[in-house]
Amino acid sequence: MVGRQYVIGNWKMYKMAREAVQYIEKLVPLVERCEANIFLAVPFTAISACFQAAKNANILIGAQNMSDAKEGAFTGEIGSLMLKEAGASFILLGHSERRHVFGESDEFIHRKVIRALQDDLQPILCVGETLAEREAGETEKALKRQIFTALKQIPKEEAPKVILAYEPVWAIGTGKTASAKMAGDAHAFCRACLAEIFGKKIAGSIPILYGGSVKPDNTKELISQEDIDGVLVGGASLDPESFSKIVHHCEKKK
Ligand code: PGA
Repeated sequence: MVGRQYVIGNWKMYKMAREAVQYIEKLVPLVERCEANIFLAVPFTAISACFQAAKNANILIGAQNMSDAKEGAFTGEIGSLMLKEAGASFILLGHSERRHVFGESDEFIHRKVIRALQDDLQPILCVGETLAEREAGETEKALKRQIFTALKQIPKEEAPKVILAYEPVWAIGTGKTASAKMAGDAHAFCRACLAEIFGKKIAGSIPILYGGSVKPDNTKELISQEDIDGVLVGGASLDPESFSKIVHHCEKKK
């Protein structure tokens, strides 16, 4: 357990800039003095407006994907420094929709983690097994492969800047949540992988968040697990009221 819990909203491809600002204006008073780390991963076009709207609040704004290159002839891509310029301070990397809908490989995600660290954008590395991998008893193998490929060449001193998110692919957007015990076991395994790479002390300081159909009514139970340091929320983050309820549940585990 790393202390203050993390609550990250992932809006995916939802909300125009104007709606995004209205959302933040509603959210700010609901989470004003909350002792949780609140992050919102918003669409590229809303980053700048969200950054301005959240400036004086305890909410960090970030993006959901980026290029592994610094700059260059890569039509349609977006670079880390551009995201930072717009107001992003973190980046989701390796989200299951990037891996499975857009075919991103472990190696590609690794290069993005390196790029983010070099350019001082906090990487949130998402990992998780598919339903087929879980049913074949290969959950740990899949997690180990994803974690080791993404992080094994990261210098030790950079490791504490990383946040890990365990998101079983079969639980994302499906309404099926991993049971608290199932999530807790996977988190303990992720922690052991981090310890193998960086040593126990550093591994203990890297937050590991759970994601996959997190809602206000299942947050408390998930968060009760020793190795769960917060949540990554998709659907339930789109409404400021439900997102703030999740933040309040997380705040209680300090
Ligand atoms: P969900 O999405 O909460 O809608 O399942 C989680 C995510 O995609 O990060």
